Amino acid sequence: MTAFARIDVPGDKSISHRALMFAALATGESAIMGILESADVQSTAGALRALGVPVPPLGARLTLTGVGLRGLRPATAPLDCGNSGTTTRLMAGIVAGAPFETTFVGDASLSARPMRRVAAPLEAMGAEVSLSAGGTLPMRIRGGALHGVRWRTEVASAQIKSAVLLAGLVAGVEVSVAEPAPSRDHTERFLRALGADLRAEHGVTLRPVEALRAFSLAVPRDPSSAAFFAALAAIGGAPGVELPGVLVSATRDGFFRALRAMGVTVDADAPAATDAGEFVTTWRVQAGATGIRGIAIGGDQVAAMIDELPLLACVGAHAAGETRITGAGELRVKESDRIAVTVANLRAVGVRAGELPDGLWVEGSEGPLAGRVTTHGDHRIAMAFAILGARPGNAIVIDDPACVSVSYPGFWAALAAVRGVRAA
Ligand code: S3P
Repeated sequence: MTAFARIDVPGDKSISHRALMFAALATGESAIMGILESADVQSTAGALRALGVPVPPLGARLTLTGVGLRGLRPATAPLDCGNSGTTTRLMAGIVAGAPFETTFVGDASLSARPMRRVAAPLEAMGAEVSLSAGGTLPMRIRGGALHGVRWRTEVASAQIKSAVLLAGLVAGVEVSVAEPAPSRDHTERFLRALGADLRAEHGVTLRPVEALRAFSLAVPRDPSSAAFFAALAAIGGAPGVELPGVLVSATRDGFFRALRAMGVTVDADAPAATDAGEFVTTWRVQAGATGIRGIAIGGDQVAAMIDELPLLACVGAHAAGETRITGAGELRVKESDRIAVTVANLRAVGVRAGELPDGLWVEGSEGPLAGRVTTHGDHRIAMAFAILGARPGNAIVIDDPACVSVSYPGFWAALAAVRGVRAA
């Protein structure tokens, strides 16, 4: 019988950002349990504090008294969003509905990422937005009395969609957002759970809301963090892993579905309803009897595993045949150019791989693989290649192991614990 190593991955990053934002905008005291205590979520906490919200230090259980939809105060300095695109783009929507000026800055990676995509709908609603000539940070937003908008996004992006919904929420105007493929819908689920009038019209439509009620929320565990250990089992770095309490939804479980299609044994308990309109499950993952085979991922499959695609490429490095990812041009504007960086690093450790304009291909082999990985400070690149390096026989060095603190500060300890179980 397979020995399953149990791993309690931390709280979901997307839900953690939103929990802080909605608690800040609610009326009354909210309680948040199991928030992700990572650098990105600290960026959101810091931005809210700068806008006058009494956010306590992040901890296993925190309570936060909201300032209400119209209670934000102007910040006295630019909001430093660190490495966090979600902080920047969602907070941009929030401050666009507030009658003052806010400036956003961030680290070198965030300062290279496109912001025109969120500036455009906010301008269409009546906010004044200025960006650098390249359409990047610093971003200055003068918000205030906005009007409603019906927006169609060019790419499937929960960050753009959420920015529009949050601007409508704070400004008290009706907004609709349609997108080319369904991106993660945590903002919509949260809003519905808090009593907002949200309809599936023109994509999704949010009607004006008087006030948001305070809430109590246990943050589900992060499927994007769980994915690393599922991948470890898939490539034979652990006999089997059990991942309890993990958020599960059709917009986030694409990686687990892809593993199954590659021949990995992936089981899940029936989803159980939890707070904020979300569901959780326990995943059990073990290498299949016949080994893993390469897969082609593209089109509508991409959005539900957008953050897991570098990891999928690493799994593909030990699959039979080719793994091919297309329709994923968005990867070029994540924390790094994840197409170029993934391919360069796969080659650096001895894998045959190549870039496509909107994706990549990988030729799988038995290995062994060895070499040095350059993360460019990208947390998901560091963790994806750490998993590849944890397969027995591989020897991979990560140049910047500390960058995992952006989304999963306990990653290295968790990986060491799983490997310890294997050795025992
Ligand atoms: C996120 C949305 C995604 C994802 C990011 C988190 C969110 O970005 O890559 O890690 O919490 O809304 P896009 O919306 O830009 O695709």
